[in-house]
Amino acid sequence: MMISYNFFNPTRLVFGEHTLGQVGKWIADSGYTRVLLLAGAGSIQKNGVYDAVTASLNAEKIQWAECFGVQPNPSLSKVREAINLALEHQVEAVLAVGGGSVIDTAKAVAAGVFLDDIWQAFEGEIRISKALPVFTVLTLSATASEMNGNAVITNERDKKKWGIGSSFLYPKVSIIDPSVQTSLPWEQTVNGALDALAHIMEFYFVGKEEETSISIHEALMKTIIAMVDKLQENPKDVDSRANLAWAATLALNGISGAGMRGGDWACHGMEHSISCLNSSIAHGAGLGILFPAWMQYVYDENPKQFNRFAQNIWQSASLSAAIRKMRARIKKWQGHTRLHELGIREEQLNGLAENAVAQGSLGRLKKLHKSDVEQILRLAY
Ligand code: NZQ
Ligand code: ZN
Repeated sequence: MMISYNFFNPTRLVFGEHTLGQVGKWIADSGYTRVLLLAGAGSIQKNGVYDAVTASLNAEKIQWAECFGVQPNPSLSKVREAINLALEHQVEAVLAVGGGSVIDTAKAVAAGVFLDDIWQAFEGEIRISKALPVFTVLTLSATASEMNGNAVITNERDKKKWGIGSSFLYPKVSIIDPSVQTSLPWEQTVNGALDALAHIMEFYFVGKEEETSISIHEALMKTIIAMVDKLQENPKDVDSRANLAWAATLALNGISGAGMRGGDWACHGMEHSISCLNSSIAHGAGLGILFPAWMQYVYDENPKQFNRFAQNIWQSASLSAAIRKMRARIKKWQGHTRLHELGIREEQLNGLAENAVAQGSLGRLKKLHKSDVEQILRLAY
């Protein structure tokens, strides 16, 4: 029987080419006049996104303070720096212009201005009960952070890459102009798609009788794979960018999780340790390597669903044949299929497993303890 669930998503999504110029209007319509603009290392200055966004703010007489330099796998120290700026400038809202790292930082800042120490929320010591409104202009489709209430931040000192989730952290308005993603380096397009695929798989493999959600998952997975194939032929194909963008948002905005028992999330737990201890490794790249190994390890817990995946997504008669095809496709996309290709050394695997279970065992389909995690990492190595 399909389990009970409640679905909540208050984010307004403004989707389409030439929508960047609306950002000022949406902020002004919400009654705000002073924002903190957060961004990454500067891709938005090269591809015209910054100019379009600031022209739109100027047109609505919205003042802003800027904080550039949010790094992939964003850090707690940057969150703290941005909280201080937000307080100093008494901003009324936070505007994230970038990918998931920038948006996650914006959410932590939005909650953090009301707290003595935002990290306490990640430790589960305090509950978020208030946050500044967050607006986003998405430049990389991957995390769905543009339409969910989650943020993942790395505490560099304590070596913890942990998440928070709160209904106060859903962006108020998110703008997705898929054409701005034509400036992405190819590997970031692939990493983003692998992350979106992983989000669907985290729900799909715990599936049993939830035919509506499972069918949505299969449509999303097939679409993502097909769009990456098309973009590899022509990275400037805006229709494929748009389809990939919408699929990535749907992968983790609550729709795909409806009725799916909260999902499994063991692969995400393992990956967060990898990109925590090696901050130059992209989240999606790690997931693309871990998932096939995890599938192999937990197959017996839900063979019907793994066989269905093999058949419907990879036209294969067995999971092992499907995994071979999946790895071949990731290779064709110039992605990685083994942990050692990311520069991870074998002697690191034990420490990675230790870090991954620091908050307790991982996974729902099969509870994974440290020794299970280490075995999966070895299968992925
Ligand atoms: O820093 P800039 O110069 O902007 O460059 C970025 C960055 O180097 C670049 N980029 C983004 N848009 C671009 C572009 N380059 C050219 N043209 C564009 N249009 O891409 C690089 C990666 O950006 P990042 O934001 O780090 O990527 P992503 O969106 O994949 O975010 C990954 C982070 O989100 C977390 C991950 O763990 C990771 O820390 N996640 C957040 C989730 C959530 N909030 O729900 C869930 C996920 O499972 C995930 O854990
Ligand atoms: Zn993810």
